[in-house]
Amino acid sequence: MPAKVNICSHPLVQDKLSALRDKRTRPEDFRRILGEISALMAYDIFKGLRTRRSLVQTPLKSAPAEYIDQEIALIAILRAGLGMVNGVSAIVPNAQIGHIGLYRNEESLNPVRYYVRLPKQISESFVLLCDPMLATGGSASEAIQILKTDGARQIYLLTLLSCKAGIKRVQEAHPDVPIYTAVIDPILNKSGYIVPGLGDAGDRIFGT
Ligand code: PRP
Ligand code: URA
Repeated sequence: MPAKVNICSHPLVQDKLSALRDKRTRPEDFRRILGEISALMAYDIFKGLRTRRSLVQTPLKSAPAEYIDQEIALIAILRAGLGMVNGVSAIVPNAQIGHIGLYRNEESLNPVRYYVRLPKQISESFVLLCDPMLATGGSASEAIQILKTDGARQIYLLTLLSCKAGIKRVQEAHPDVPIYTAVIDPILNKSGYIVPGLGDAGDRIFGT
């Protein structure tokens, strides 16, 4: 059985998703909103973090405390994942950050790897892989494979817009990886674009 697909229906997330879809949203606003929505969605995923109980001294007395007891690795699939990692890192500033450079071949739609730089020793880390678009699923599947080859064992995929074909491909290749998304759109067109989608995420972020 593949891990669950989690759809975040929270009003704050859906409101920001609608702004990202809007073709009038300019890159500077797009980047800010992408960061905000990513942090909101990651908040829920991080409930799976390992913690340790302890005590803390308040100015008055000792109180029970709970601290995160696990390394966090935020991994951006370049380019578009960068905008998500920037937002998520605001709520987990101690997280390590890694980059996986992939672009899709325009004809085959297969991912082409051009850069990989990961934090050291991620085998015990809580790894959050970020890419706003899960279209054919080729890029996410490849990135997860790269992470697993590097030793990662606890991986979560955070995406914003997905479609059934991409979800199926990731679930078949990596049934252990839970997928978190804000929406599942109905169509993957012949050029590999999610429809209605939001267009090319990298171009919308960077104004290219
Ligand atoms: C986009 C997007 C994903 C990928 C999704 O990146 O950010 O990485 O496409 O498509 P898939 O599920 O079919 O693999 P793109 O290849 O356009 O690169 P870019 O972010 O550098 O523009
Ligand atoms: N990549 C994008 O940026 N947008 C899509 O719709 C599909 C892949």
